[in-house]
Amino acid sequence: MANYNSNFTDELRERLSIVDVVGRRVPLTKKGQNFWGCCPFHNEKTPSFSVNEEKGFYHCFGCGEHGDIISFTMKSGNMDFIAAITELAQQAGLKMPDYKPKSVEEKVREDSYVYLTEAAAKIYQQKLFEPDGAFALEYIKKRGFSIESIKKYCLGYAPKSNIISTKFSNTNFEKLSATGLVRRGDYGNYDFFRDRLMFPIFNIAGQVIAFSGRSLDGSEPKYINTIDTELFHKRKTVFGLNFARDSIHRANRSIVVEGQIDVIQMQVHGFGETVAPLGTALTEDHIAILCKSNRNITFCFDGDTAGQKAAARACSLVLPFLRDNSDVKFAFVTGGKDPDDILKSSDGINSMKKIIDSAQPLVDFLWDSLNKNYLVSTPGGRSQAEKFLKKELEKLTDTSLRSEYEKEYNSRKFNQWHKWDKKKNAPDIEIPDVDQITINSLKAVINKYPELGETHIEFLATLGINFDKNISHTELSFEDAEKLVVSLKLKKYLEKLHIEKKELFSKMLVGDETVRGRISDIDAEIIKSNERLNLLSGV
Ligand code: UTP
Ligand code: MN
Repeated sequence: MANYNSNFTDELRERLSIVDVVGRRVPLTKKGQNFWGCCPFHNEKTPSFSVNEEKGFYHCFGCGEHGDIISFTMKSGNMDFIAAITELAQQAGLKMPDYKPKSVEEKVREDSYVYLTEAAAKIYQQKLFEPDGAFALEYIKKRGFSIESIKKYCLGYAPKSNIISTKFSNTNFEKLSATGLVRRGDYGNYDFFRDRLMFPIFNIAGQVIAFSGRSLDGSEPKYINTIDTELFHKRKTVFGLNFARDSIHRANRSIVVEGQIDVIQMQVHGFGETVAPLGTALTEDHIAILCKSNRNITFCFDGDTAGQKAAARACSLVLPFLRDNSDVKFAFVTGGKDPDDILKSSDGINSMKKIIDSAQPLVDFLWDSLNKNYLVSTPGGRSQAEKFLKKELEKLTDTSLRSEYEKEYNSRKFNQWHKWDKKKNAPDIEIPDVDQITINSLKAVINKYPELGETHIEFLATLGINFDKNISHTELSFEDAEKLVVSLKLKKYLEKLHIEKKELFSKMLVGDETVRGRISDIDAEIIKSNERLNLLSGV
């Protein structure tokens, strides 16, 4: 055990959530601050095994076992240290290092790598302000970048000539080529990036570790990125995170967009919490890294098919990381535009804010995707949709959250799939006559469930409902009884809204414009109440 690199175990603890790690072997439920389950280390029927996500440890109040992700994996999987680390590395998507402290050579290699990439960034930056770079500078200014942001994000220009190979001609070729900046061809060394607008890619520590270069003459590919190196892995690099970290903390969320220009423009225009994957689809690693900062994520993609696909993929990847307090949403920029285009348009910041604010919660996004992607008006389509949904929900590691999702979708399936025809023919709302039968069943309900009577006492009083010993017992379960009371209450409320709306309308007809706002509030209320009523009507 002595011979391992403690940086790596720190990285594992940093990257992996203990709730995810333990959750793979022990079903956990969130209660209060902690997650709870039945202890895997002694025999028990009621959970006394607690997991603290924030602090990264578990503790069993029954048998006193406690520890972190590494000791948990060793003990629960009956493995030695190396085997446990190997399993965790796999979960974290990290390559297993050799279990040696960083060797002197390794350290030297890393230093030389960063030294070279940072030096290259400086060279590119200088070039942008030299005659060679005039066209690139003009281009980026035209795209709305101020000198200040050009400096902050260290944008640069890689000239047509082989500037890096030339400037570092005395540097050992292996070291140079390890950065991905220089390659060896038949006619000598050449630069990987030429005649491109250069975006440095920073690691979390703010060091330049790679680049993305945009072509300026319309040639394809539009962007090329440093190929993976020892220190740069595209699938695990979140562009802009080094700049966004504090804002993510302040805003209590991150925004994920598709491209690096979008990231910079968003950050510059007040959405400092914005990041993007780089030249690749979103990966599980990207999500894991983001969730380490904050589990509230708003994905903001193009509204086209590709964007919808990207969103579906993001949804699928984020499910295992969801907690009952995570707020994951999906926003779409439509009309073939991206956030950069929106921000540049008139009143761009407000338009962007609206797009982000109207993002759809994951629970609705997933439901809408089902309805869009499967023919849910047919039994076959519904069966396919069910299978897909089941597979997705299995990804939720928080079991109580999973069961709430299942209940939610069961209710939607019942109300929206199976009541399809009935709903179409039904009138807008049914205003109930509270007849004697209803009165009697309400009485029966509160006889059996006095706590319901307490909760809805004011409403029941308006109907003149009280305890009545002569009423027979109800067969309804508590849940159904509650639905009965609440839906009646909603119907009464809707009735009141409609009456008020009618009155306001007559005022507007005689020229009173002041009521217009209240009418639209009422409309919103009516929609909301009808939605709730639809959800309940599965009694
Ligand atoms: P887009 O094609 O949407 O580009 O690619 P963009 O960000 O809007 O760029 P501009 O506004 O035309 O300059 C989105 C992201 O996909 C990656 C890049 O990271 C880009 O930011 N990409 C795109 C590539 O890696 N290679 C490409 O050829 C194109
Ligand atoms: Mn763009």
